[in-house]
Amino acid sequence: MKKIKISPSILSADFSNLGNEIKRLEDGGADLIHVDVMDGHFVPNLTIGPPVIKTLRQYTKLPFDVHLMISPVHKYINDYSNAGADIITIHPEATDNLIESLDLIKKLNKKVGVSLNPDTKINVIEKYLSKVDLILIMSVYPGFGGQKFIPDVISKIKNLKKIKDNNKLNFDIEVDGGINFSNSKEVINAGANILVSGTTIFKENNGNIKKNIETLKSQ
Ligand code: DX5
Ligand code: ZN
Repeated sequence: MKKIKISPSILSADFSNLGNEIKRLEDGGADLIHVDVMDGHFVPNLTIGPPVIKTLRQYTKLPFDVHLMISPVHKYINDYSNAGADIITIHPEATDNLIESLDLIKKLNKKVGVSLNPDTKINVIEKYLSKVDLILIMSVYPGFGGQKFIPDVISKIKNLKKIKDNNKLNFDIEVDGGINFSNSKEVINAGANILVSGTTIFKENNGNIKKNIETLKSQ
């Protein structure tokens, strides 16, 4: 059974103070830092890119779990690798040659993730499962923090975990979107071992990050 890890999303952080917000997350017990990159094209929102990630790199040694919600994505992978990403997760819908993009991420010695939107079926990526380090299951439609968790995703997590175990694969199962204290236990029991959370970690218990991370982990 893999250790449960928390990857707080900085999308919900104070963008005018991101470096210190990342330090607060590390001090609060975060295992990774989830960096939501949005281009206003693949998703209807725009956040940060390689120059910002490069400056944030100096604030922590924690792995940067970079979620690329951008298209096209292939030609930018190098930039995110050079900026300091440790895990680079892409959406299959954002590249016309998924295997080429996955191979590039691995060639750059980064961990490779593939993200599944709520309406994208597992069979779209089933043949790539032996090539990835992480599958990011979206429990909201990507683009914004603070959305409601989509409960149908629980059965998808269970299915993915079954495929993983039956094929003796070792990728992480990360779930992203609307994770809170009332659904995190169900998400973990369904087979997730990494939880992404922005709103719950930054807003609950008057923003007590340490308490919120511990509560999510201890479910
Ligand atoms: C949404 C992002 C998520 C989101 C999670 O497109 O990929 O990482 O920021 O934020 P909460 O936990 O607020 O749903
Ligand atoms: Zn994300």
